[in-house]
Amino acid sequence: MTQLLMQKTTFLKSPLNYIGGKYKILSQILPLFPKQNDIFVDLFCGGCNVGMNIGQDSIIQASHIICNDNLIYLIELYRFLQENQADTILNEIRNIILKYDLNLQNTQGYNNLRNAYNIKKSPMLLFVLIAFSFNHQIRFNNRHCFNNPFGKNRSSFNSAMRENLLQFLDAIQNKPIQFLSLDFKEALDSASLTKQSFVYADPPYLITQGTYNDGKRGFSGWNEKLEKTLLESLKFLDSQGIKFALSNVLTHKGIHNEILDKWIRANGYIVHTIHTHYTNSNYQAKYRDKSQTVEVLVTNYQPLITREDTNAFYW
Ligand SMILES: C[S@@+](CC[C@H](N)C(=O)[O-])C[C@H]1O[C@@H](n2cnc3c(N)ncnc32)[C@H](O)[C@@H]1O
Repeated sequence: MTQLLMQKTTFLKSPLNYIGGKYKILSQILPLFPKQNDIFVDLFCGGCNVGMNIGQDSIIQASHIICNDNLIYLIELYRFLQENQADTILNEIRNIILKYDLNLQNTQGYNNLRNAYNIKKSPMLLFVLIAFSFNHQIRFNNRHCFNNPFGKNRSSFNSAMRENLLQFLDAIQNKPIQFLSLDFKEALDSASLTKQSFVYADPPYLITQGTYNDGKRGFSGWNEKLEKTLLESLKFLDSQGIKFALSNVLTHKGIHNEILDKWIRANGYIVHTIHTHYTNSNYQAKYRDKSQTVEVLVTNYQPLITREDTNAFYW
């Protein structure tokens, strides 16, 4: 029978409901990371669920944290949130909600806000749009226009989002976090990494689809070429004695990621299986079923897990 044995550490949760966000598996992946780092790179930071949980009050320490994502509008939003006081930000949110008369039913108000954002591209308009959008998703079209529809009767700037936002502000304003909006390869080239640095890579998955890898946002979609470039870049880090961890899925709905599998075997990297079905009492049977998703963390080092660390795991 599956049960939650221990959940000692509480983690910060991104205010953005990011597709592919790693909040739910932080208790499994963080204990596998090196504890002391000079630079920690969250190479595909998305909702920042990983980067914001590094440093102060975390089991993973770093003197410098780089959070990178090639979605420029997202990084502009993070920079704005990092540079402005919580009161100012909450006031801005309140004013935008009042100005566009946003509530759970007002589709026209939401559409007016979306039009305004697509003209002005102001970070706080984006934040409020995400709060009221369907499933709180960030989706752009080829012309870089936000095109996610209204989350009628479901999405709003609710108290959970407000609480997560306040914790997020506290983290990004008080930790040594630098936001970068570069392609992953440029981000790696621009960071002066040493043997004490650590790179966490959570790219779009080649064999699953999120709005950030469908190639329909005016940003290049994820494809085999990018996957191979990333794997080469990680191999290069390995050759420099720099540790990395890569999140990915090896199998999904009967499709196997052969490129990744071959690369892991050829280089002797270590595969840690992530348990994602722990709420289902029949998860072991499900897990053996090859049609299910096999989520993994691949490392180029053997993690030093102490007894204390394992207390953070779900079994
Ligand atoms: C799986 S999501 C990351 C989720 C994140 N770890 C979290 O917990 O919220 C992958 C991210 O990679 C970004 N991305 C896609 N292609 C990229 C590229 N070439 N360079 C940098 N970032 C990229 C996407 O915008 C997306 O935010």
